[in-house]
Amino acid sequence: MDKICIRGGVPLEGVIPIGGAKNAALPLMAASLLTAETLTLRNVPALADIASMANLLVQHGVELTRGAEGEDGEHILELSAGHITSSTAPYDLVRKMRASVLVLGPLVARCGRARVSLPGGCAIGPRPIDLHVKGLQRLGAEVELRGGYIEARAPRGLRGAEIAFPAVSVGATENLLMAATLAEGETLLINAAREPEITDLAECLTAMGARIDGIGSDRLRIVGVPLLHGVAHSIIPDRIETGTYIMAAAATGGEVTLTNTRLNLVATVARTLEGAGVEVSETADGLVVRRRAERLEGVDVMTEPYPGFPTDLQAQVMALMTIANGASMITETIFENRFMHVPELARMGANINVHGASALVRGVPQLTGAPVMATDLRASVSLVVAGLAAAGQTVINRVYHLDRGYERLEAKLARCKARIERLQDGA
Ligand code: UD1
Repeated sequence: MDKICIRGGVPLEGVIPIGGAKNAALPLMAASLLTAETLTLRNVPALADIASMANLLVQHGVELTRGAEGEDGEHILELSAGHITSSTAPYDLVRKMRASVLVLGPLVARCGRARVSLPGGCAIGPRPIDLHVKGLQRLGAEVELRGGYIEARAPRGLRGAEIAFPAVSVGATENLLMAATLAEGETLLINAAREPEITDLAECLTAMGARIDGIGSDRLRIVGVPLLHGVAHSIIPDRIETGTYIMAAAATGGEVTLTNTRLNLVATVARTLEGAGVEVSETADGLVVRRRAERLEGVDVMTEPYPGFPTDLQAQVMALMTIANGASMITETIFENRFMHVPELARMGANINVHGASALVRGVPQLTGAPVMATDLRASVSLVVAGLAAAGQTVINRVYHLDRGYERLEAKLARCKARIERLQDGA
């Protein structure tokens, strides 16, 4: 398995281009199942999770073409679900990536049935899908759990309904939003998630002919239409990749410009870091990140659904706080068991105590490089942030997690003077 080796302590200086949002691309790819016409997606990131979703869709009968590279080498994907040949999403493909469950709503809406493997456990907690299932039942689908599969049937089509989510779920909102576009009558999604990726999906669906009101709010009203058509859609910038490089720049000092991204996608993150002494400003060239003083100040952070501080940046901000002056309380409210990076950061000299859903980080003047283990996507990249700031050499094992969510990570950082390299298997 590949490793990443970092010799830290060098301030990052340069320009980092931000890719399209993985978490917008995945539901948008699943939305191709809703129409027999071609959906063209631009600004698609080149990531392992995108390849997993592509494999799953091909298995459902979607014809997939990589379009010509656009300006700036952007990736373009054309998806045509003229004939859906299978409405089963098999265990082998679903277990690799939980977002595979996003084919459930579109398949039932378009084919009147779907068989989707339960995603199973995951390193960051149990992550159930009860909200997806209950919502589909409200839309009139009969759902059974059999042999590890969700079997959903709506032979006479789905019917609009009012669905009030008891908890905010990004995936359930996306699945039911997609399903409702082809249901008969009106659907109201109450307490819907409002992440920018959902807005991006809703805007693409609207361009495909869906009727959706309340986009960007926690109440989405959808009036079903008989069919949707193809469009070309450009995916929004990845706010988690943006936030991650903001933390990397802040952790090392120096000055980094992030291009192809926007401040409004990371407003809460920028505001939080402002309190820690990090300046993030939007200029004509992109977002410019710099540290105001030699040492950062500890700030408290609590993860929340959007527009709150994203759980997908919790590990990275913790890495940053390990070297701040004073203490920082980091509270995770979205996922249980999302502190697997703590013992790894401790190996590098961080002082962190976990009490339930909160971690108390007491800043130390300097981390020191160490061999560490990546456990999930965001935990892995927090070790990269820590390694860039640490004195000496950090070797991160199991970096395949990083390839799920970060395109050309080493190249982007190396262009900003980081001493980082990937050691191929066996090295
Ligand atoms: C999405 C993101 C993920 C991010 C998460 C929270 C994608 C592909 N992934 O994941 O990167 O960390 O949002 O911002 O977009 N829950 C239930 N029942 C359900 C569904 C969820 O109890 O049926 C719980 C989960 O266990 C979790 C919380 O709700 O505690 C939020 O999960 P959810 O918003 O659904 O996350 P995902 O859509 O899986």
